[in-house]
Amino acid sequence: MPQFRLPKNSRIVPGKDHPAPSAAKRTRTFRIYRWNPDEGGQPRMDRYTVDLESCGPMVLDALIKIKNEIDPTLTFRRSCREGICGSCAMNIDGTNTLACTKAIDDCRSKEIPIYPLPHLPVIKDLVPDLTHFYAQYASIRPWIRTQSAPPPDRERLQSKEDRAKLDGLYECILCACCSTSCPSYWWNGDRYLGPAILLQAYRWIVDSRDEDTGARLDELEDPFRLYRCHTIMNCARTCPKGLNPAQAIAEIKKLLVQRRGT
Ligand code: SF4
Ligand code: SF4
Ligand code: FES
Repeated sequence: MPQFRLPKNSRIVPGKDHPAPSAAKRTRTFRIYRWNPDEGGQPRMDRYTVDLESCGPMVLDALIKIKNEIDPTLTFRRSCREGICGSCAMNIDGTNTLACTKAIDDCRSKEIPIYPLPHLPVIKDLVPDLTHFYAQYASIRPWIRTQSAPPPDRERLQSKEDRAKLDGLYECILCACCSTSCPSYWWNGDRYLGPAILLQAYRWIVDSRDEDTGARLDELEDPFRLYRCHTIMNCARTCPKGLNPAQAIAEIKKLLVQRRGT
Protein backbone atom coordinates (compact mmCIF):
# COMPACT_ATOMS: atom_id res chain seq x y z
CA MET A 1 0.00 0.00 0.00
CA PRO A 2 1.38 3.49 -0.79
CA GLN A 3 2.34 5.85 2.04
CA PHE A 4 -1.01 7.39 2.43
CA ARG A 5 -2.74 10.23 4.19
CA LEU A 6 -5.94 8.78 5.66
CA PRO A 7 -8.75 10.85 7.18
CA LYS A 8 -8.05 11.39 10.89
CA ASN A 9 -8.39 8.34 13.18
CA SER A 10 -9.30 6.01 10.34
CA ARG A 11 -8.12 2.78 8.74
CA ILE A 12 -8.99 1.15 5.45
CA VAL A 13 -11.60 -1.60 5.75
CA PRO A 14 -12.83 -4.16 3.17
CA GLY A 15 -15.68 -2.75 1.09
CA LYS A 16 -18.36 -3.92 -1.30
CA ASP A 17 -17.83 -6.65 -3.89
CA HIS A 18 -19.13 -6.14 -7.42
CA PRO A 19 -18.69 -9.47 -9.26
CA ALA A 20 -18.53 -9.75 -13.05
CA PRO A 21 -21.66 -10.63 -15.05
CA SER A 22 -22.04 -14.43 -15.06
CA ALA A 23 -21.51 -14.64 -18.86
CA ALA A 24 -18.16 -12.81 -18.73
CA LYS A 25 -15.25 -15.01 -19.91
CA ARG A 26 -12.20 -12.71 -19.69
CA THR A 27 -12.22 -10.64 -16.52
CA ARG A 28 -9.94 -8.52 -14.32
CA THR A 29 -10.55 -7.38 -10.77
CA PHE A 30 -9.78 -3.88 -9.44
CA ARG A 31 -9.62 -2.99 -5.74
CA ILE A 32 -10.39 0.72 -5.50
CA TYR A 33 -10.04 3.13 -2.57
CA ARG A 34 -13.39 4.69 -1.65
CA TRP A 35 -14.04 7.48 0.80
CA ASN A 36 -16.84 10.02 0.80
CA PRO A 37 -16.52 12.89 3.32
CA ASP A 38 -20.31 13.44 3.19
CA GLU A 39 -20.94 9.89 4.40
CA GLY A 40 -18.07 9.81 6.90
CA GLY A 41 -17.00 6.41 8.18
CA GLN A 42 -13.85 4.48 7.40
CA PRO A 43 -12.30 4.48 3.94
CA ARG A 44 -12.83 1.13 2.24
CA MET A 45 -11.51 -0.89 -0.69
CA ASP A 46 -14.32 -1.87 -3.07
CA ARG A 47 -13.81 -4.78 -5.50
CA TYR A 48 -15.00 -4.50 -9.09
CA THR A 49 -14.61 -7.33 -11.58
CA VAL A 50 -14.82 -6.08 -15.15
CA ASP A 51 -15.56 -7.95 -18.38
CA LEU A 52 -12.51 -7.11 -20.50
CA GLU A 53 -14.26 -8.17 -23.74
CA SER A 54 -16.33 -4.99 -23.55
CA CYS A 55 -13.66 -2.70 -22.04
CA GLY A 56 -10.92 -0.57 -23.57
CA PRO A 57 -7.28 -1.49 -22.87
CA MET A 58 -6.34 1.18 -20.33
CA VAL A 59 -7.02 1.42 -16.60
CA LEU A 60 -8.97 4.63 -17.25
CA ASP A 61 -11.24 2.67 -19.65
CA ALA A 62 -11.98 0.27 -16.80
CA LEU A 63 -12.70 3.13 -14.36
CA ILE A 64 -15.08 4.74 -16.86
CA LYS A 65 -16.79 1.39 -17.48
CA ILE A 66 -17.19 0.86 -13.73
CA LYS A 67 -18.66 4.35 -13.31
CA ASN A 68 -21.00 4.02 -16.32
CA GLU A 69 -22.18 0.45 -15.84
CA ILE A 70 -21.55 -0.72 -12.27
CA ASP A 71 -21.25 2.10 -9.73
CA PRO A 72 -21.95 5.74 -10.68
CA THR A 73 -20.77 6.93 -7.26
CA LEU A 74 -17.11 6.19 -8.06
CA THR A 75 -15.29 9.54 -8.32
CA PHE A 76 -12.07 10.29 -10.21
CA ARG A 77 -10.62 13.02 -12.42
CA ARG A 78 -9.91 12.70 -16.13
CA SER A 79 -10.09 14.84 -19.19
CA CYS A 80 -7.88 14.28 -22.26
CA ARG A 81 -7.52 10.46 -22.22
CA GLU A 82 -4.14 10.79 -23.95
CA GLY A 83 -1.56 11.63 -21.29
CA ILE A 84 -1.61 15.39 -21.78
CA CYS A 85 -3.79 16.97 -19.09
CA GLY A 86 -2.36 15.13 -16.07
CA SER A 87 -5.71 14.94 -14.31
CA CYS A 88 -6.02 11.13 -14.13
CA ALA A 89 -2.84 10.73 -12.04
CA MET A 90 -3.32 8.12 -9.30
CA ASN A 91 -1.51 5.20 -7.65
CA ILE A 92 -2.13 2.08 -9.76
CA ASP A 93 -0.64 -1.34 -9.08
CA GLY A 94 1.83 0.21 -6.64
CA THR A 95 3.07 3.12 -8.79
CA ASN A 96 1.99 6.69 -9.35
CA THR A 97 1.00 7.00 -12.99
CA LEU A 98 -1.67 8.17 -15.45
CA ALA A 99 -4.73 5.93 -15.65
CA CYS A 100 -5.22 6.78 -19.33
CA THR A 101 -1.77 5.57 -20.42
CA LYS A 102 -1.45 2.59 -18.06
CA ALA A 103 -2.48 -0.61 -19.87
CA ILE A 104 -4.53 -3.08 -17.83
CA ASP A 105 -2.39 -5.91 -19.26
CA ASP A 106 0.76 -4.26 -17.85
CA CYS A 107 -0.54 -4.44 -14.26
CA ARG A 108 1.09 -7.31 -12.37
CA SER A 109 -1.18 -7.69 -9.34
CA LYS A 110 -3.85 -10.37 -9.54
CA GLU A 111 -6.32 -7.82 -8.20
CA ILE A 112 -5.19 -4.35 -9.33
CA PRO A 113 -5.08 -1.90 -6.39
CA ILE A 114 -5.93 1.74 -7.16
CA TYR A 115 -5.43 4.56 -4.63
CA PRO A 116 -5.36 8.33 -4.92
CA LEU A 117 -1.91 9.95 -5.20
CA PRO A 118 -0.11 9.31 -1.89
CA HIS A 119 0.30 11.77 0.94
CA LEU A 120 -2.19 14.37 -0.22
CA PRO A 121 -5.48 15.11 1.51
CA VAL A 122 -8.30 13.30 -0.30
CA ILE A 123 -11.39 15.17 -1.44
CA LYS A 124 -13.30 12.03 -2.41
CA ASP A 125 -12.36 8.52 -3.63
CA LEU A 126 -9.49 8.94 -6.13
CA VAL A 127 -9.52 12.76 -6.14
CA PRO A 128 -6.65 14.36 -4.18
CA ASP A 129 -6.54 17.97 -3.06
CA LEU A 130 -3.84 19.70 -5.14
CA THR A 131 -4.39 23.20 -3.73
CA HIS A 132 -1.00 23.34 -2.01
CA PHE A 133 0.78 21.87 -5.07
CA TYR A 134 -0.69 24.57 -7.33
CA ALA A 135 0.13 27.30 -4.79
CA GLN A 136 3.73 26.09 -4.83
CA TYR A 137 3.67 26.22 -8.63
CA ALA A 138 2.36 29.80 -8.54
CA SER A 139 5.10 30.70 -6.03
CA ILE A 140 7.85 30.22 -8.66
CA ARG A 141 6.02 32.70 -10.94
CA PRO A 142 6.10 30.37 -13.95
CA TRP A 143 6.19 32.83 -16.82
CA ILE A 144 8.86 34.78 -18.71
CA ARG A 145 10.08 37.63 -16.52
CA THR A 146 11.89 40.40 -18.43
CA GLN A 147 13.47 43.77 -17.75
CA SER A 148 14.19 44.85 -21.33
CA ALA A 149 11.53 46.27 -23.62
CA PRO A 150 10.16 43.73 -26.14
CA PRO A 151 11.29 44.11 -29.77
CA PRO A 152 8.86 46.50 -31.49
CA ASP A 153 8.19 44.30 -34.53
CA ARG A 154 8.34 40.66 -33.40
CA GLU A 155 8.29 38.21 -30.54
CA ARG A 156 11.29 37.55 -28.33
CA LEU A 157 13.09 34.96 -30.43
CA GLN A 158 15.22 32.03 -29.37
CA SER A 159 17.94 30.13 -31.28
CA LYS A 160 17.38 26.46 -32.05
CA GLU A 161 20.14 25.58 -29.58
CA ASP A 162 18.52 27.61 -26.79
CA ARG A 163 15.13 26.12 -27.57
CA ALA A 164 16.65 22.63 -27.31
CA LYS A 165 17.61 23.38 -23.68
CA LEU A 166 13.90 23.19 -22.83
CA ASP A 167 13.59 19.61 -24.10
CA GLY A 168 12.93 17.23 -21.22
CA LEU A 169 11.36 20.11 -19.28
CA TYR A 170 8.55 21.62 -21.34
CA GLU A 171 6.85 18.21 -21.63
CA CYS A 172 5.95 18.24 -17.91
CA ILE A 173 2.15 18.09 -17.53
CA LEU A 174 2.15 18.88 -13.78
CA CYS A 175 0.47 15.58 -12.94
CA ALA A 176 2.20 15.48 -9.49
CA CYS A 177 3.14 11.78 -9.85
CA CYS A 178 6.78 12.62 -9.07
CA SER A 179 6.21 14.93 -6.10
CA THR A 180 3.82 12.49 -4.44
CA SER A 181 6.35 9.65 -4.84
CA CYS A 182 9.13 11.66 -3.17
CA PRO A 183 9.72 10.79 0.52
CA SER A 184 11.23 14.24 1.13
CA TYR A 185 8.04 15.81 -0.20
CA TRP A 186 5.87 13.49 1.93
CA TRP A 187 7.54 14.66 5.12
CA ASN A 188 8.42 18.29 4.26
CA GLY A 189 5.93 19.18 1.54
CA ASP A 190 4.84 22.27 3.47
CA ARG A 191 8.20 23.91 2.74
CA TYR A 192 10.04 21.70 0.21
CA LEU A 193 8.90 22.53 -3.34
CA GLY A 194 9.25 18.94 -4.56
CA PRO A 195 10.46 17.58 -7.90
CA ALA A 196 7.61 18.77 -10.16
CA ILE A 197 7.82 22.40 -9.11
CA LEU A 198 11.63 22.40 -9.12
CA LEU A 199 11.67 20.96 -12.64
CA GLN A 200 9.34 23.78 -13.64
CA ALA A 201 11.56 26.32 -11.87
CA TYR A 202 14.56 25.05 -13.84
CA ARG A 203 12.52 25.25 -17.07
CA TRP A 204 12.33 29.06 -16.57
CA ILE A 205 15.91 29.40 -15.29
CA VAL A 206 17.31 27.94 -18.53
CA ASP A 207 14.93 29.77 -20.85
CA SER A 208 17.20 32.14 -22.84
CA ARG A 209 14.40 34.71 -23.08
CA ASP A 210 14.00 35.05 -19.31
CA GLU A 211 15.89 37.93 -17.67
CA ASP A 212 15.32 37.16 -14.00
CA THR A 213 17.66 34.20 -13.45
CA GLY A 214 19.40 35.80 -10.46
CA ALA A 215 16.15 36.37 -8.59
CA ARG A 216 14.89 32.90 -9.49
CA LEU A 217 18.04 31.35 -8.00
CA ASP A 218 17.81 33.62 -4.92
CA GLU A 219 14.27 32.39 -4.33
CA LEU A 220 15.44 28.76 -4.37
CA GLU A 221 18.56 29.18 -2.22
CA ASP A 222 16.88 28.02 0.95
CA PRO A 223 17.46 24.95 3.16
CA PHE A 224 13.91 23.73 2.58
CA ARG A 225 12.62 24.87 -0.82
CA LEU A 226 15.45 23.19 -2.78
CA TYR A 227 17.83 21.38 -0.48
CA ARG A 228 15.41 18.79 0.89
CA CYS A 229 16.10 16.73 -2.25
CA HIS A 230 18.31 13.83 -1.17
CA THR A 231 18.61 12.27 -4.64
CA ILE A 232 16.41 9.28 -3.80
CA MET A 233 15.34 9.25 -7.49
CA ASN A 234 11.74 8.04 -7.02
CA CYS A 235 10.72 11.05 -9.08
CA ALA A 236 12.59 10.00 -12.23
CA ARG A 237 11.42 6.40 -11.86
CA THR A 238 7.75 7.32 -11.63
CA CYS A 239 7.33 10.15 -14.18
CA PRO A 240 4.83 8.89 -16.78
CA LYS A 241 6.31 11.29 -19.35
CA GLY A 242 9.83 9.88 -18.94
CA LEU A 243 11.25 13.12 -17.49
CA ASN A 244 14.01 13.40 -14.92
CA PRO A 245 13.20 15.99 -12.22
CA ALA A 246 16.18 14.85 -10.10
CA GLN A 247 18.52 15.92 -12.88
CA ALA A 248 16.83 19.34 -13.13
CA ILE A 249 17.28 19.72 -9.36
CA ALA A 250 20.96 18.78 -9.66
CA GLU A 251 21.37 21.42 -12.41
CA ILE A 252 19.86 24.11 -10.15
CA LYS A 253 22.24 23.11 -7.34
CA LYS A 254 25.17 23.28 -9.80
CA LEU A 255 24.18 26.79 -10.88
CA LEU A 256 24.04 27.90 -7.25
CA VAL A 257 27.51 26.49 -6.59
CA GLN A 258 28.89 28.18 -9.73
CA ARG A 259 27.32 31.44 -8.67
CA ARG A 260 28.95 31.26 -5.23
CA GLY A 261 32.32 30.65 -6.91
CA THR A 262 32.15 33.72 -9.13
S1 SF4 B 1 7.94 15.78 -13.99
FE1 SF4 B 1 6.73 14.07 -14.79
S2 SF4 B 1 5.74 13.18 -12.97
FE2 SF4 B 1 6.46 15.20 -12.40
S3 SF4 B 1 4.68 16.53 -12.69
FE3 SF4 B 1 5.93 16.61 -14.57
S4 SF4 B 1 5.05 15.05 -15.90
FE4 SF4 B 1 4.28 14.64 -13.86
S1 SF4 C 1 15.58 12.79 -6.29
FE1 SF4 C 1 14.97 14.43 -4.91
S2 SF4 C 1 13.03 15.11 -5.70
FE2 SF4 C 1 13.44 13.13 -6.64
S3 SF4 C 1 12.39 11.67 -5.30
FE3 SF4 C 1 14.44 11.92 -4.59
S4 SF4 C 1 14.42 13.44 -2.98
FE4 SF4 C 1 12.56 13.61 -4.17
S1 FES D 1 -6.92 11.93 -18.78
FE1 FES D 1 -5.47 13.50 -19.28
S2 FES D 1 -3.59 12.63 -18.66
FE2 FES D 1 -5.00 11.03 -18.34
